[in-house]
Amino acid sequence: MNSVLRTLSTVAAVATLLWSVNASAGAYDGFKVMQEKNCASCHNISGEIGLKTAGLWRKGPDLYYAGNKYNQHWLATWLQHPTQVRPSGTFYLDHAQTGKKWDTIRHGSFKPHVILSVMDAQNVAIALSELRTKNQLIKAEHFDPTITAGAMGDMMFNKVNGCMACHSIEPGYGGVSGPELYTAAERLKPEYMLSIIRDPQAWNHRTWMPTRELSEEDMQKIVNYIISLDSNKTSMNSFAAQSAAKNYRIYCMQCHGISGKGSGINSRDMGVQPRNHSDTKYLSARTDGELFKAIKEGGLSVNKSALMPPWAKTLSDVEIKDLVKHIRKLCKCKFEGGQNHP
Ligand code: HEC
Ligand code: HEC
Ligand code: HEC
Repeated sequence: MNSVLRTLSTVAAVATLLWSVNASAGAYDGFKVMQEKNCASCHNISGEIGLKTAGLWRKGPDLYYAGNKYNQHWLATWLQHPTQVRPSGTFYLDHAQTGKKWDTIRHGSFKPHVILSVMDAQNVAIALSELRTKNQLIKAEHFDPTITAGAMGDMMFNKVNGCMACHSIEPGYGGVSGPELYTAAERLKPEYMLSIIRDPQAWNHRTWMPTRELSEEDMQKIVNYIISLDSNKTSMNSFAAQSAAKNYRIYCMQCHGISGKGSGINSRDMGVQPRNHSDTKYLSARTDGELFKAIKEGGLSVNKSALMPPWAKTLSDVEIKDLVKHIRKLCKCKFEGGQNHP
């Protein structure tokens, strides 16, 4: 289809939605924003992709059942501060390349997502929540938060059922061809998680998530395990993400300094000096995952000094990811490989 025709047809699709949904004022405004920003040029918002694998080469994830999949609060927050949820993009073959030892992701191949204002994001979140195709699949599920796997969760997810081959359970750890799952509790309705684990093909005929036959009890345990990976559930719901620059000022400058060079007001008597965040050489040898972990769980978690505190209770994962990006700006660097010794 040529691009003019494609644009016309996607505009028509949104227009049909505007008429067909018995929309509240917020949803109506939300669909209008989606029409203006041409969201349908990358997202399927109006129907199945069909039985052909060709449909997998789509630019963004399907949104035509968004109301049955996502938590509305997450949608509203994410649309203001979009972050990458699928480490290898919507379809990994668009972003993978062969490497020396393993195939790798072409990080330069991702484009930043459109960012919406607070008002637009809230209205679009309401609009998306009205898209409830496949309602029957969600209605069939009953999530039980009491059926937990306890200490066995890791084992079930990793060794017994092999889910970790494709999914990350913490930043930078696990497979990358499926969406990260340590933020799933913020993003997804538990009934959706149960349903896609039970029958991924019912949501997307040609998805590369395989079906594993699991007992009802095991599925409940796995969903509870996935929810337990997300230490931000409550903090994410109680406040919206603050900008990284603001967070850095309030929480980090006391030690890392106004200049970010590690010379904050606390640093004079510290046995281990706060890291200089403009140190290109040092920081090019640290992965984003390592920086994320150091900020979230503290220095000790990455074999560094306990003087670097953990921020898991103060900042959400989204905010911490943004702080990693902020530090990348201060050092004007990215991970280049190599190893560090303190
Ligand atoms: C140029 C293509 C493009 C346009 C235009 C676009 N998106 Fe996206 N969108 C993407 C891609 C790619 C992702 C996947 C990001 C990821 O997972 O890392 C995404 C992800 C999302 C997600 C998160 C879904 C998930 O499961 O990760 C939502 C919600 C979303 N987009 C809504 C919108 C809305 C609303 C608009 C219009 C205002 C829009 N998008 C416009 C490409 C686009
Ligand atoms: C071969 C790779 C692969 C394996 C193995 C796999 N998944 Fe997935 N999973 C995916 C892909 C790809 C998606 C996205 C599907 C879509 O949206 O169409 C997904 C989606 C999900 C989702 C929804 C996440 C979201 O943000 O949309 C959950 C929950 C999930 N998988 C759990 C599991 C569990 C539990 C197992 C083990 C029983 C598992 N997966 C095994 C590839 C895999
Ligand atoms: C109480 C003082 C203190 C505060 C507050 C603090 N840091 Fe640190 N930070 C340190 C010290 C000390 C180190 C050096 C640890 C070492 O090298 O063993 C460090 C190291 C780091 C590192 C490097 C970890 C590595 O892999 O080597 C990062 C990244 C970091 N801090 C980020 C932050 C961010 C972001 C904040 C604000 C949210 C913050 N820090 C707040 C003291 C602090």
